Amino acid sequence: MWSRAGWGIRFSSPIGVWQAEHVDLPHVEAQLDTSQTLFTETQIRDRLEEMAREIETDYEGRELLLVGVLKGAVMVMADLSRALNRHLEIDWMAVSSYGSGTSSSGVVRILKDLDTDIMGRHVLIVEDIIDTGLTLSWLVTNLRSRGPASVEIATLLRKPDAIQNEVDVRYVGFDIPNAFVVGYGLDYSEKYRNLRCIGTLAPHVYS
Ligand code: IMP
Repeated sequence: MWSRAGWGIRFSSPIGVWQAEHVDLPHVEAQLDTSQTLFTETQIRDRLEEMAREIETDYEGRELLLVGVLKGAVMVMADLSRALNRHLEIDWMAVSSYGSGTSSSGVVRILKDLDTDIMGRHVLIVEDIIDTGLTLSWLVTNLRSRGPASVEIATLLRKPDAIQNEVDVRYVGFDIPNAFVVGYGLDYSEKYRNLRCIGTLAPHVYS
């Protein structure tokens, strides 16, 4: 599906034909599997900048602890935290709620707990995506039981079903349709996290 022509690479993909120079192959191969780009790198960066301004205003005068949910939130955390022009701390949790497919199991398990004692702290959970909301509502309950001053959520993406699960999300990047998306930290069977954009998967990948 792709061919090298000197230093440039030209390939056809489900989203059309594009030509690029100095393209690194992992990105080329991953790009081939997305059927539709939902958000470009620039759109993601611009939205995170807007969210950062809101967060700066809301947390003025308060210490802020960002809690990222591994592994999907790595890119959001990296870019959102750097967009925030203020002091903050970062910690990570890893929970599992998904197998290797595209549907939620509803079972949440802590794979890695926080290193920080959050008693009396202002905690902002940083998420990549909220689908059913099961993972987050469990996580919020778990963190609230540790006596923090506050727990809020910032997510880059939110799917419609999340709204049914009454997860109170303070900062949302984009509301998206009910499709399985990959890229910018989001995976399908651990792949595609390294895509710079966010897209839906081409059906040939999972059919
Ligand atoms: P929830 O519990 O259904 O809200 O799902 C939470 C987790 O499922 C997210 O943090 C993601 O890791 C994963 N997930 C949900 N939807 C998608 C998707 O469209 N692409 C990739 N991962 C997803």
